[in-house]
Amino acid sequence: MLLSTSILSIKDKNRFKEIDETTTDFIHVDVMDGKFVDNYNDYEQLNFNKKLDVHLMVEDVINYIKKYEKFHPYFITFHVEINQDVKKIINYLKEKNIKVGLSIKPDTDLKKIIPFLEYIDLVLVMSVEPGHGGQKFIEKTTKRIDQLIKLREQNNYNYFIEVDGGINQETIKKVKNVDIVVSGSYITNSDNFQKQIDNIIC
Ligand code: DX5
Ligand code: ZN
Repeated sequence: MLLSTSILSIKDKNRFKEIDETTTDFIHVDVMDGKFVDNYNDYEQLNFNKKLDVHLMVEDVINYIKKYEKFHPYFITFHVEINQDVKKIINYLKEKNIKVGLSIKPDTDLKKIIPFLEYIDLVLVMSVEPGHGGQKFIEKTTKRIDQLIKLREQNNYNYFIEVDGGINQETIKKVKNVDIVVSGSYITNSDNFQKQIDNIIC
C-alpha cells in the first residue's frame, strides 16, 4: 500500500519541506473552487520532490488542469459528479500524458463511474464528503472499495484504487485492500510527521 499525504491541513507553509522529507510516496494536493465544494483552496507554488497527486474538487476542471500541469503532477483526479463532459476531460489529460484519476463522493451511485473505468488510471473513493480535512471516516466506503476491486478483476481493468478522508491509525485497518491511501490531519496535525507515518503504515 502506498501513502499519499494531504497537505490541506498544514497551515504553516514552511512545513511543506518537512513533509517532502518523509517516506510518503505522494503529496496529495486538494484544490477547491468554492463552487463544487463549500471551501476554497488553491496553490500558486508547489515545490516538492515527491510525486504530486492532485485532487480537483472543482467544476471548471479544464481551467484547473491548465493551471496545475506546470507542477508536473503524476495524477490529476477530478470528480465524476461535475456538470461537464467527463470523457472529454479524460482524453484531454491523456493527451498531456498525465495519469487520469476519477473521484466519487460517498453518496454517488457507483454506477455513475462504471462507463469510465476502462479509460482511467485511478479511482479516488471519497470516505468523507469532499471539502474539509479532519472529518470522520464513512464506514460504508469499504463496500464500495470491494465492489471496485471486483469490477477490476472481472473486466481486467488496470486502475489503482485510492481512498481519501478520515484515515488514521484505526481506520486504515479497514482499507488494507486499496492501492493508495490518503491521510491528512492524522499526519499533519503533529509536530513529527514521520512518526505519524510510521504509526499508520506498518
Ligand atoms: C477532503 C480532502 C481530503 C482531506 C483528507 O475534501 O479531499 O484529501 O484533506 O484529510 P483527512 O485525512 O484529515 O480527512
Ligand atoms: Zn483529497
